[in-house]
Amino acid sequence: MKTVFSGIQPSGDMHVGNYIGAIRNWITLQDQYRSFFCVVDYHAITQDYAVKEMGRRVFDMAVDILALGVDPDKATLFVQSMVPEHTELCWVLNAVTGHGDLERMTQFKDKSEHQPENINAALFEYPVLQAADILLYKAELVPVGQDQVQHIELARRIARSFNHRWGKVFPECEPKLTPVAKVLGLDGQQKMSKSLNNHLPLAAMEDKPLRKLLGRAVTDVKRVERTDPGDPDVCNVFAWHGMFSTEEDRAWVREGCTTAGIGCVDCKGRLAERMVAHFAPYRERRAELLAHPERVKDTLHAGAEKARAVAKKTMDEVRHKLGLWR
Ligand code: TRP
Repeated sequence: MKTVFSGIQPSGDMHVGNYIGAIRNWITLQDQYRSFFCVVDYHAITQDYAVKEMGRRVFDMAVDILALGVDPDKATLFVQSMVPEHTELCWVLNAVTGHGDLERMTQFKDKSEHQPENINAALFEYPVLQAADILLYKAELVPVGQDQVQHIELARRIARSFNHRWGKVFPECEPKLTPVAKVLGLDGQQKMSKSLNNHLPLAAMEDKPLRKLLGRAVTDVKRVERTDPGDPDVCNVFAWHGMFSTEEDRAWVREGCTTAGIGCVDCKGRLAERMVAHFAPYRERRAELLAHPERVKDTLHAGAEKARAVAKKTMDEVRHKLGLWR
């Protein structure tokens, strides 16, 4: 059975982009593969953050992952910093990572532009830690969105360099692209993300707040007046319908939009209904978990223990190959 590894940053505010882009896929994969899913808090410290909020963010993320349907009986869910072998392997992999390769990472360039006052070495190193995450569990498949493909390809190159220099330990990993490669935000232009504040948080999956948020969502910009016909194929709200609505809904929207029979408000209203219904079981499970935080804590401790057993074995193998003294 192949092994899957994926990680998510503890933004603490899970949104539709995370769900469609990652977690929904994890839920399918956990039935088919040996799966490790990780809240990557050591990755998160590469950007500025409020120290007081970090613990809560990690916990909330874990709650959301569980509430959405990741099942600890099927997959191993854990927090990165609870398995110190991640940073240990990262150091070793540094020795077989090309500086020039890291310089070519587009996400590093983007993030450096985004926070020019804090371009730290860990931000540069980020993809090496990500490679360590994956290789520690000898994962072959890495479910990610399009924006992470470059990192996964680098991880494969790092694995090859390690095997070449010290002997074969790691398999070659490949990205497993999510069916929807990119979920755009309320602006209809950029990838949905909390930092851009263009996101639909799962916390807003109630009728009123959701309708209010969707009110801000950019539709077909050429449809200015209610009487103008619109083009669903260039409308990001219609793309969201594709993720949550039925085929009949979409036919109704297409017909109504192209003939100006319905307005954007009607279209968004239908979407809101579908999304609220879609996330109703999540909301229920989330409330249940929040009422029993000790269950979440137990799950994360058990997950870290399971992950650590595997990680320790890999590190023993790595140290042996490196010729270190014991
Ligand atoms: N860099 C990923 C992101 O920002 C998160 C991540 C960290 C990850 N380690 C990983 C994803 C390992 C896949 C595998 O989305």
